[in-house]
Amino acid sequence: MLNQLNTYLSRQSQSLPHYIWEHAVQFVCGWAPTIGGIVLRALAYRSILHMSGLAAIEDGVRIRFASNVYLDKGAYLDHGVYLHACPGGIRIGAESMVMKNAILHVYNFRNLPHAGITIGARSLIGESCILRGQGGITIGNDVYLGTLVQVLAVNHVFHDTTRPISHQGITAEGIRIDDGTWVGSGAIILDGIKIGRNAVIGAGAVVTKDVPDYSIVVGNPARIVRNLQEEPLDLSSAKHLIVY
Ligand SMILES: CC(C)(COP(=O)(O)OP(=O)(O)OC[C@H]1O[C@@H](n2cnc3c(N)ncnc32)[C@H](O)[C@@H]1OP(=O)(O)O)[C@@H](O)C(=O)NCCC(=O)NCCS
Repeated sequence: MLNQLNTYLSRQSQSLPHYIWEHAVQFVCGWAPTIGGIVLRALAYRSILHMSGLAAIEDGVRIRFASNVYLDKGAYLDHGVYLHACPGGIRIGAESMVMKNAILHVYNFRNLPHAGITIGARSLIGESCILRGQGGITIGNDVYLGTLVQVLAVNHVFHDTTRPISHQGITAEGIRIDDGTWVGSGAIILDGIKIGRNAVIGAGAVVTKDVPDYSIVVGNPARIVRNLQEEPLDLSSAKHLIVY
């Protein structure tokens, strides 16, 4: 029983005093709605996580290992966001937004050296995205992830047929998504993948190979359908109204 309690606590916070303080602050301030609640948390949450300037945290945001969370000025966490920042940490850059029900989980219970999730400035993590950062996830500036995107920087090992896969360990290489890229809704990015700058990942694509800069990829497995530098799109033929 004591062992289980220790395991539970070690997966929630870096020490018992941290656990008590982080939970107490979130219990007292985490529920308060409206702009008043956002102001309250912008002040009170500085005692449990790292914040430069003012970051906006809506009510109902759940944060574990808060001492490993870094929020830059103007970062926004929507209602229902879950950050689990076990060793490796989560960094969210200036003016980046993490939308409702997104889950950012470093999942580092094995002391993986490159674990962590880093998001640059002005990026957007859409509703209900899931990021698993065991191998490290680095997202650049001005990157947009649509809704329900999964970025999975981990694989299970499964070569030994005599043991359950869950007992065979994991590999975790890491994922990088460079500046200016747009990932369509429902896309899945697998471990070890690098996506270049200003790339477009079609809705529902499963990305199993690196994506070069300025490329559009679609499908499962994702295939390149265009490179925007080699084969530029003619805006005059755009079917729909473009707004900014
Ligand atoms: C990829 C996308 C941007 C279109 O790019 P495009 O270069 O204009 O692509 P086209 O419409 O010319 O299609 C090129 C080919 O890819 C296919 N294709 C396009 N999008 C696809 C997708 N998501 N999945 C599978 N195939 C797709 C087309 O059928 C076409 O195939 P064909 O050449 O065999 O006819 C768009 O289809 C898309 O997936 N958008 C994401 C929308 C989204 O997620 N929005 C919300 C998030 S903010």
